[in-house]
Amino acid sequence: MKAGIVGFGNVAAATLESFLANRDIILAKARSPIDFVRVATRTPSRARGRVPPGCVIDDDPHGLVDDPEVDVVIELTGNVPLGRELVLRALAQGKHVITANKALLARHGAEIMAAASRARRRVLFEGAVAVSIPIVKTLREAVAANRITSVVGILNGTSNYVLSQMSEHSKDFATALAQAQQKGYAEADPTLDINGEDAAHKIALLASLAFGVPIDFGHVVFKGITQVEREDMEFAKRLGYETKLIARAERAGDCVNVGVEPMLVSNHSMLAKVGGSMNGILLKGDLLGSAFLYGSGAGGRQTSSAVLADLLELANGNGGYNMGFRDDAPSTAPAGERRSLDQAYYVRLRFQDRAGVNAEVGRVLANANISAHSLLQDPSRGALSDLIVLTHPVSGARLRKTLPKLQDAAGPGHSVVVYPVLEDAGDAP
Ligand SMILES: NC(=O)c1ccc[n+]([C@@H]2O[C@H](COP(=O)([O-])OP(=O)(O)OC[C@H]3O[C@@H](n4cnc5c(N)ncnc54)[C@H](OP(=O)(O)O)[C@@H]3O)[C@@H](O)[C@H]2O)c1
Repeated sequence: MKAGIVGFGNVAAATLESFLANRDIILAKARSPIDFVRVATRTPSRARGRVPPGCVIDDDPHGLVDDPEVDVVIELTGNVPLGRELVLRALAQGKHVITANKALLARHGAEIMAAASRARRRVLFEGAVAVSIPIVKTLREAVAANRITSVVGILNGTSNYVLSQMSEHSKDFATALAQAQQKGYAEADPTLDINGEDAAHKIALLASLAFGVPIDFGHVVFKGITQVEREDMEFAKRLGYETKLIARAERAGDCVNVGVEPMLVSNHSMLAKVGGSMNGILLKGDLLGSAFLYGSGAGGRQTSSAVLADLLELANGNGGYNMGFRDDAPSTAPAGERRSLDQAYYVRLRFQDRAGVNAEVGRVLANANISAHSLLQDPSRGALSDLIVLTHPVSGARLRKTLPKLQDAAGPGHSVVVYPVLEDAGDAP
């Protein structure tokens, strides 16, 4: 199996370094020899002296894809239009593809998988999601006999690091984000991490693998952590919850809801224990019950582990399938429409301290048939007071309808803050 790598950044450099370091182990497990024969990247000087002997280095990705010597194209540029072009071209030429480019697969996965199916070639992407957690192989192979009911996870290490710093060390958002950048967890431009889009790319791929639905990124609703206030995290803590950016794909009748948003999770749960830049995934299926997977979500070396495992799989000629889209797969719920799954909510009202607000809020909720599980009142803000209501499970539509009335009760100037609560985030021992 002769491989060519496009791009020579963190992951590509680590892939070759790891290959050279663990070559004996890798080749001992390979049914056919594995070799890296070509690297094509924008700045070839970065690769000089860091590739196996005989490996050609240049700045011509198309030349690499067209090279008859190359059997498998490993796309590691992070560039979506270029990635799409190269991957489709490689498949059309009968080559297998490995990529860690989740944005590429989330946006063009259905087209790429159809091309792979026509060409009878594999597109492997273990490195695209939660790199140290073998979730792609787990969904494709280990739990293949299950009807999966939900995949729920913390899939973005940068956001999780920022929220953990805010929760554990009372840092404000900007300081926590700057620290994430200093530590190398966040990109120079962290937009996709903190606006929820990176996690949305990943959950779109997991939803496709878990439920057999074609990837439809347009149906993924995502919201990031930029609006999360430290004081809400503190109130949530007092009620026994942590605030986490949760990516979810779950079956609701004949539909699958796929989305990303900040949620409250019980502080006794496995997801609450996922701290710093780590990732965690809670998987539920009719046969397996539930399983929790935990590991690093980023890092060149960690991603190289996944890329090299994909290469080994190809070298061993394991047939397998790519995404396994099914004709009878449930459809994904259109963006913004969570289908018929009730959930509990955290609702915070801030108001000018005056008599009767609690009773007014109680009336609004009772009239809407929404019952409270817990109440917390915090009068520590001078003339302002906070009232936090944790509801019992209720439909999102019903809660949304009451928000204007709750806003009236709070008075002008302070918007009502709402977070969904994840009922089952995996019991921690
Ligand atoms: N880093 C991680 O922890 C991680 C984890 C999981 C998945 N991934 C995914 O892995 C992929 C690579 O990530 P990375 O961290 O290695 O990125 P990176 O360090 O930014 O490297 C990207 C490489 O691609 C090259 N490149 C970009 N545009 C190019 C073009 N038009 N033509 C040729 N070469 C081009 C860059 O060239 P220059 O050297 O000139 O910049 C660079 O060498 C991305 O899809 C990323 O989402 C990364």
